[in-house]
Amino acid sequence: MHVFVTGGTGTIGSAVVAELLGNGHTVLALARTDGSARAVKDAGAEPLRGGLADLDVLRAGVAQSDGVISLAFGRDYSSPAALAQAVAEESAALAALGEELIGSDRPLVTVSGTPWVPGRASTEADPLPTDGPVGGRGRSVNALLDLASRGVRSTAVRMPRTVHNEGKGGFAGLLTDAARRAGVSGYPGDGTQRWPAVHALDAAVLFRLALESAPAGTSWHAVADEGDAVRDIATVIGRRLGLPVEAVPQENFGPFGPIFAMDQPASSAHTREALGWQPTQPGLLEDLENIQP
Ligand SMILES: NC(=O)c1ccc[n+]([C@@H]2O[C@H](COP(=O)([O-])OP(=O)(O)OC[C@H]3O[C@@H](n4cnc5c(N)ncnc54)[C@H](OP(=O)(O)O)[C@@H]3O)[C@@H](O)[C@H]2O)c1
Repeated sequence: MHVFVTGGTGTIGSAVVAELLGNGHTVLALARTDGSARAVKDAGAEPLRGGLADLDVLRAGVAQSDGVISLAFGRDYSSPAALAQAVAEESAALAALGEELIGSDRPLVTVSGTPWVPGRASTEADPLPTDGPVGGRGRSVNALLDLASRGVRSTAVRMPRTVHNEGKGGFAGLLTDAARRAGVSGYPGDGTQRWPAVHALDAAVLFRLALESAPAGTSWHAVADEGDAVRDIATVIGRRLGLPVEAVPQENFGPFGPIFAMDQPASSAHTREALGWQPTQPGLLEDLENIQP
């Protein structure tokens, strides 16, 4: 397939591009800067210049492709307003991508997070949260999945709380950044809350499998570690950076504080069985040993 990818230069997106190219597909990748266009070319894909807010560019990308993988999302999480802006930008982009695909039966794979269910690991059958600071993302993914009845093979790959590669990326990466800034490897709450995790290279395989074969309207869990205790994550970060490990107020993590403090293990049993997905990369705690002081 010729696949239009947004976010193809990110932690997950660069792995997805490599996975697609390594498995017989070609890639057209949205690139908002010269640097991103170069990175896309170096990876072996064709850049399409533009940003997530350039809806005509997104429509042109869809028109040139056999399928779409949508991963781009703003990186400014510094305030609730910045996060809300990123959510709004992504929502408009997803709506434009979906609309352009109506009646085509072509695949559109989008990304969301695994839901949280008190007292147990969430499954693929649990609904996405549609309130809270990123609830708008859940609503726009649900709207895309609804396009299954209008001739779009739309699917969602739900990412666990943290996605890692060589010790970097995801929310564990935000914890590492916060530790470097504060001089303390902090965790909110009592640290026993669990985050599910996956290596970006394993997640990339699942995006490809969903693109190639998942039925319209389905959701999948890219979960390798069902749940790592946040205190254990902070402990590895603290040891690698030579910093003390301490409980800190959740407000230290800005709009993500409440999410960081939540226990949210997730299962991928159905995904593994139905799509034959099998993670093979190192788990989060092992991968964080790659953090350099
Ligand atoms: N549990 C969860 O909910 C969860 C967990 C992990 C990931 N995710 C989602 O998975 C996706 C990929 O994650 P990631 O870790 O790979 O993200 P990342 O490393 O931050 O990469 C973000 C990507 O989006 C692109 N991008 C950002 N704003 C853009 C804009 N305005 N126009 C065009 N491109 C833009 C970036 O391009 P540049 O290189 O040009 O900056 C980059 O390719 C994101 O949507 C993320 O939120 C969700």
